[in-house]
Amino acid sequence: MNEQSAELFEKIRQQFDSTPYLNVPLDLSPRNNPNLLYAQNFITSYYLRNQAFPVTEGSVILDAGCGAGFKSLILAEANPGAKIVGIDLSHESTDLAKQRLQLHGFKDAEFIVASIEDLPTLGFTFDYINCDEVLYLLPDAAKGLQAMKAVLKPTGIIRANLHSSAKRADYFRAQQVFNLLGLMNGNPSDLEIEITRETFESLKNGIDLKVKVWQEAAQRGDVEEKEWILVNYLLQGDKGYTIADLFAALRIADLEFISMVNWCDWEILDLFKDAENLPLFWAMSLPEASIEQRLQLFELLHPISRLLDFWCGHPGQAHVYETVAAWTKEDWQTVKVYLHPQLKTFHLREELVRSIEHHQPFSLSGYLPGLAKNAVTLESAVAATLLPLWDEPQTVTALIERSRQIQPLNPVTLEPRTSTAILDDLMALLTRLEVFLYVLLEPS
Ligand SMILES: C[S@@+](CC[C@H](N)C(=O)[O-])C[C@H]1O[C@@H](n2cnc3c(N)ncnc32)[C@H](O)[C@@H]1O
Repeated sequence: MNEQSAELFEKIRQQFDSTPYLNVPLDLSPRNNPNLLYAQNFITSYYLRNQAFPVTEGSVILDAGCGAGFKSLILAEANPGAKIVGIDLSHESTDLAKQRLQLHGFKDAEFIVASIEDLPTLGFTFDYINCDEVLYLLPDAAKGLQAMKAVLKPTGIIRANLHSSAKRADYFRAQQVFNLLGLMNGNPSDLEIEITRETFESLKNGIDLKVKVWQEAAQRGDVEEKEWILVNYLLQGDKGYTIADLFAALRIADLEFISMVNWCDWEILDLFKDAENLPLFWAMSLPEASIEQRLQLFELLHPISRLLDFWCGHPGQAHVYETVAAWTKEDWQTVKVYLHPQLKTFHLREELVRSIEHHQPFSLSGYLPGLAKNAVTLESAVAATLLPLWDEPQTVTALIERSRQIQPLNPVTLEPRTSTAILDDLMALLTRLEVFLYVLLEPS
């Protein structure tokens, strides 16, 4: 490591030793928050990549740059039976992470003070690596990815993210201001935080930077938090990246892109008034565009995500599979249907039962991330077909039979519903639910 990197490492370590991130109470549990657990459940990304399920029992999961361990706890809750290993530069952070996991009953979790670059020397290999809010701090993101790849099992998956240079440009501008003022020469502490706060408060309200990075946060009350000021205006080592930078880093590290973590928010077609009626040139060009190009176009048109949050893995390890849209009716007859494990909660089942009993629509929106805008609401008799999924996976044949029992007659003709008609309805329903991974479909 050169002198400059060593100095930066030291500044980052000091910053997170004095203010471990994420600062949430040790006893706060994410257990009943499917929104938090969903992305960290190994099944989510594995299914997206392979349309199959990983063996989760006994898997080993790394939280790279674990900080104060709240994300490590989410990983532990989302992946029952997995062993959690966390590493971080900051001793104070790993200490907190250890206490947190112990407190919540994950006694065999291990936390080590180490840098991501040193991972290959630690003697572990991993099924899943979470590197959340860390990669953009490294002097070289590609090297960080390479180090993680070196300890990733062949079918393993890495989740990492970079700050978006487009979305976060104004925050980088603020960091430059405070850098010029010398506030980031050492480890920013209470004095530097106070100077930052004072600076923004003394600026007139219409001043561009204040409008862009301060006023809204101040209204939300965020700027009252020391942590908010540190990780936004005074963050040592913070850097911005584009989609092109992200894919360049993946190529250097020889890693294969799998998907954006919030993939529903990156659909280019959603940016057009009428996705079915695009300008001719776009209609002809988009089908030819690579995933990278589609994401780049999205980023240029509408950079709304602070994070470029992605999954990747070793190249050539994905199962090749037919997308659900391409399945024939014969294929559908052999399918097994699973509820996403994060939806399999007592609370959601109760809500479903209530909506069936009161003949009210059952809304799945708000249960998994990114889905609120793609609200899925089911008519209660349709939703009732899905109830057994809370007990165990179902074959399509069993669901057809259940649907027939719930609704034996066609409500228009009063003729008995045929198996073909029921299958058609079920295919449409499951296809709609699978897009957002509410249900996972396994062809035999
Ligand atoms: C913004 S915090 C994120 C913590 C945690 N992942 C989360 O999302 O709650 C960044 C963490 O990365 C750690 N870190 C930064 N560079 C690192 C490196 N090269 N190796 C290991 N940890 C690093 C810092 O010490 C800090 O705890």
